[in-house]
Amino acid sequence: MQKVLILGAHGQIARLVERNLLEDDIQQRLFLRRASRLKKIDVSKQEVFEGDATKVSDLTKALADVDLVYANLAGEIVAEAEALVEAMRATHVKRLIWISTLGIYDEVPGAYGKWNHEMLDGGYLETYAAAAKVIEDSGLAYTIIRPAWLTNYDEISYELTPKGTAFKGTEVSRKSVADLVAKIILAPEKYIGASLGVNKPHTDGPKPSWY
Ligand SMILES: NC(=O)c1ccc[n+]([C@@H]2O[C@H](COP(=O)([O-])OP(=O)(O)OC[C@H]3O[C@@H](n4cnc5c(N)ncnc54)[C@H](OP(=O)(O)O)[C@@H]3O)[C@@H](O)[C@H]2O)c1
Repeated sequence: MQKVLILGAHGQIARLVERNLLEDDIQQRLFLRRASRLKKIDVSKQEVFEGDATKVSDLTKALADVDLVYANLAGEIVAEAEALVEAMRATHVKRLIWISTLGIYDEVPGAYGKWNHEMLDGGYLETYAAAAKVIEDSGLAYTIIRPAWLTNYDEISYELTPKGTAFKGTEVSRKSVADLVAKIILAPEKYIGASLGVNKPHTDGPKPSWY
């Protein structure tokens, strides 16, 4: 059975992916800080690993027998990218799904692109861009995912834009991103070397609808 290491397993998108994958023939290793927060797991398909994703030693241990890594991280994102690349190289694990954000290539056009810069410049967008570059330069079989502004709407509706094309739309639900991640975990030969913008169709505008 394929084993996936989920980094940031208590994160909002990650928890949706974990629930989705319980229906499939996938073994999940849930990597998180303060593991006591995970109250309920399915021991037939899930195991818990307490660790810090900035620590190469924690990641290296967690990567034992893993086929694929899904990183749903935040915070010290450059340090996490660097530590993960080092640990994956050392353990010869190659396949990685990396959650990033819209705007890291300045690919968001028009008024929304300007608004996104105003909201995210000054520490967030720059570090997410630098982390994505670490992943792209790693030689790993990566897929980078760049979601639009996230909602918790109970809907799955999304389209993809490849790197090198303008970002579309303004928003997307976490459920949609989780659906895409689970689909890639189940078909890991897809989207290798891709960096995918993810948005809900027909949500173009100067900012997300709730702002
Ligand atoms: N909000 C938006 O509109 C938007 C849009 C595009 C992209 N994004 C990005 O998409 C990503 C996923 O979104 P989400 O809603 O699932 O985020 P989330 O709920 O904040 O999940 C991120 C997870 O990263 C974990 N983490 C941070 N540093 C860690 C470390 N050193 N070691 C282990 N785990 C660590 C956090 O763990 P703890 O619980 O221990 O802190 C948290 O569970 C985030 O990077 C977010 O910035 C957000």
